[in-house]
Amino acid sequence: MEQKTDMRILQVQGLEVSYGHIQALKGLDLEIMKGEIVVLVGANGAGKTTLMETILGVNKVGKGDILYKGKSILGKPADKNVRDGMFLVPEGRGVFAWMTVKDNLLLGAHHNIRQADEKMKAVFESFPVLSERRDQVAKTLSGGERQMLAIARALMSSPELIMIDEPSIGLAPIIVNDIFEIIVNLNRQGYSILLSEQNVYKALKCAHRGYVLETGNLVLSGTAEELLNNPGIREAYLGA
Ligand SMILES: Nc1ncnc2c1ncn2[C@@H]1O[C@H](COP(=O)(O)OP(=O)(O)OP(=O)(O)O)[C@@H](O)[C@H]1O
Ligand SMILES: [Mg+2]
Repeated sequence: MEQKTDMRILQVQGLEVSYGHIQALKGLDLEIMKGEIVVLVGANGAGKTTLMETILGVNKVGKGDILYKGKSILGKPADKNVRDGMFLVPEGRGVFAWMTVKDNLLLGAHHNIRQADEKMKAVFESFPVLSERRDQVAKTLSGGERQMLAIARALMSSPELIMIDEPSIGLAPIIVNDIFEIIVNLNRQGYSILLSEQNVYKALKCAHRGYVLETGNLVLSGTAEELLNNPGIREAYLGA
């Protein structure tokens, strides 16, 4: 019989992270089941980026543990975690402005270069807009196209867990809908997704569950529906 822990792709336990004397994460517990979209809701400075970067392996953990596919990954470098199927689409997209779409995509496959042609073909089928612009430098893409490129680059590395930090930031509402549609489609294809968003309503509409982060503490968690109906959330994040 399959054990319940096998269903969890990620478990964060009592996680504490500090930058010098600033404690950014104050003992967080969070989990992501395989095949879920989980949203991190929180204001500026709440610790969303810190949490994602720490999961990836970029920040030093003060206390607590991070289990990926059932095993502790404490102390593992980010590139090892990427090889093991984790990918972070960073805040602000992180694409290289003066490199072409194609070269930006290839960077996502740097540890997977033998499969790069095949992956790129699949990515261009899923993102025809990027295919048309494959030889353009990323700087000449629209904001929405750049976000697509950042997500497509994640797919080049054959990920299982994709963390996407504020995908909708700076995008027009209609484009935001396109990006969320892409995220839902990826999830339907089986990718587990951790999303941080200040566009709380739209994010919860497409997610399974969510966590609310306030100055380094998780103050609430629940199904997306529970959070959407929570009076505190409605007042603080949904303007209702
Ligand atoms: N490199 C750093 N050095 C010192 N303090 C940092 C550093 N990075 C983040 N912090 C602090 O840690 C806290 C959490 O920041 P973080 O960037 O994780 O928040 P966030 O929820 O992603 O915010 P935003 O919505 O603005 O992106 C903040 O108080 C921030 O000032
Ligand atoms: Mg952030």
